[in-house]
Amino acid sequence: MISRETIDEVKNRVDIVDVISDFVSLKRSGQNYKALSPFNNEKTASFFVVPGKGIFKDFSSGKGGDAITFVMEHEGMSYTEAIRFLAKKYGVEIKEDVQSEDLREKQSEREGLYILMNFAKDYFKDNLFNTDEGKGIGLSYFHERSFNDRTIQKFELGYALEGWNNLSDEAISKNYNKELLEKTGLTVRNDEGRTYDRFRGRVIFPIHNLTGKVIAFGARMLGKDKNQPKYINSPETEIYHKSDVLYGLFQAKNAIRQEDNCFLVEGYTDVISLHQADVENVVASSGTALTEPQIKLIRRFTENVTVLFDGDAAGIKAAVRGIDLILKGGLNVRVVLLPDNEDPDSYSRKVGTSEFQKYLSQKSQDFISFKSGLYAAEAGSDPIRKAESIKEIVNSIALIPDPVKRSVYLQETSQQLKIAEPVLLTELNKLLVQERKKKERDQVLPPRRSDDAPSFDEPAAEIPVAAIDASQKVYFQERETIRLLLNYADQSLEDQKLADFLLNELDDVEFVNPVFREIYQHFRDHVQNGKMPDSQYLIQHGSDEMRNVIAGLVMTKHEISPNWKKKHIYVPAEAELLPKMANSNVLRLKYRVVQRMIEDNLVHIRESEQGGNKEAFEKYWEEYEGLKKAEVELASLLGTVFGK
Ligand code: CTP
Ligand code: MN
Repeated sequence: MISRETIDEVKNRVDIVDVISDFVSLKRSGQNYKALSPFNNEKTASFFVVPGKGIFKDFSSGKGGDAITFVMEHEGMSYTEAIRFLAKKYGVEIKEDVQSEDLREKQSEREGLYILMNFAKDYFKDNLFNTDEGKGIGLSYFHERSFNDRTIQKFELGYALEGWNNLSDEAISKNYNKELLEKTGLTVRNDEGRTYDRFRGRVIFPIHNLTGKVIAFGARMLGKDKNQPKYINSPETEIYHKSDVLYGLFQAKNAIRQEDNCFLVEGYTDVISLHQADVENVVASSGTALTEPQIKLIRRFTENVTVLFDGDAAGIKAAVRGIDLILKGGLNVRVVLLPDNEDPDSYSRKVGTSEFQKYLSQKSQDFISFKSGLYAAEAGSDPIRKAESIKEIVNSIALIPDPVKRSVYLQETSQQLKIAEPVLLTELNKLLVQERKKKERDQVLPPRRSDDAPSFDEPAAEIPVAAIDASQKVYFQERETIRLLLNYADQSLEDQKLADFLLNELDDVEFVNPVFREIYQHFRDHVQNGKMPDSQYLIQHGSDEMRNVIAGLVMTKHEISPNWKKKHIYVPAEAELLPKMANSNVLRLKYRVVQRMIEDNLVHIRESEQGGNKEAFEKYWEEYEGLKKAEVELASLLGTVFGK
């Protein structure tokens, strides 16, 4: 177990902006940072980081918390994995508690897999540079393909020796666990139960995750044996899900952010050759059609993708398919087709760095001209074929989720193809209606919100009052109380602090929502002991759920537009309105609670009436009258607050 000391040290050192910037391209927004959600597809940024409080909140997925939570959510790590990851990043030495030997054996399987993959990567590298076979066959193969040593190091390329058990033997001699070795896919067990190395006599391309850990390998054969597959790849494992990974993203992510564009190519060697031509913002989908998770990955760093495929029929087909997927994922897409019979690897080597870069910038075209060019060549002057090609383009446009973008592309198509825009629009709308009908058919009714599972993203004001029942009103009122406490506990209202006022007034109110109740109790306990807790303290000490809720509440999603200030329109800041807000909040909360009690009470009255239980009926009826009186009283007080 990692010691408490180490955990605290990590928490002290982390800079949330620094941590999140490794994964998300953040834009400054006042004192805070904003970005597109790394957890969801979205068009407008709803991911916020507040460095002053050390927290993030993602309004589109509801996730939120501190730097550790972020790493856990984003990288799919456990708490300890996240601590280890951050300790490494900040050079904090990890001290384990005494029982560590025992626990190390029980170390999570994932961590074990990472360690083994790292071992294998080092082993393959060592083979490449330090064995005769590796140097003579592997290294000279890479050199033949004009990969220089810097590139070879950057991508941690390696070599797997000929022979059935080299890697397995080495791993076992170093006391690595045999079972785990099989789980990595590095060794394979045959029908007779004997194990052997998966990769033999091949050059090795490690596949890294976003943080640079090796999670899989691709292994290319040397020479041209027709009876063997060109590449053998790691199988899916606990740490490797092929469809969630893009080859080269770890090495490319900074360049993608800087260039605000990502080249998409087909293979390992294309990625590497582009790096050698000083084009570093490039990833590969590794021989399969692009997947949705892969598009989301790109989206974390840029909204612009340029597909770079061979000019042959297969390449064009792949480009067309890729374009639609990328558009559907809400990204902008451009296309560069290479001359026939060339792939990015061969062509960049053939023409050299500067020519190649020139080619990329000159031949890059938007998907409309790419598609129309494609069909124009086929269609010639045949009007029917031409109509088909227009449909093809509108089909792609219909996939774009953003209506504004759709209309821009429609204009572009109209100009490029010399077709009146209304004609295109009719076609587009037909497709959109079809799509909507299909969706409606598939849709099930959304579940009714219960007060245990309300959504945090919806501010009360945005929900039509008629659509919320009393329990939801209580929920929003409770949330508002907690929000005031978290943000303004220490502020003075006339003669006392806000926290004291709220706690005094609400002392007898039991919070319905368990998380709010927990936070409220924290405040009550602390204030009774004469201490004022702040949100930071609660985030550090609360449960995951609490952290998430708090993160959402200490952030204001809607900032006041700077234009207002420019135009000298005075918008009172929330803090100035505090006394009024606190007061009315207490009243409203009490009012909601009473309403809720009345609702419950009415159910009891009806039940006892139907059950013929006169005694219960009378008791509930009496209660009902009391509640009604309280309700009227509170309503009139609220009326005075709001001047109704
Ligand atoms: N691929 C694979 N298995 C194969 C063939 C291809 O996994 N049997 C994947 C690899 O990720 C490869 C990509 O598809 O990188 C593209 O295939 P290809 O163009 O044939 O390979 P290149 O990487 O371009 O290799 P080379 O330049 O050596 O031909
Ligand atoms: Mn290729």
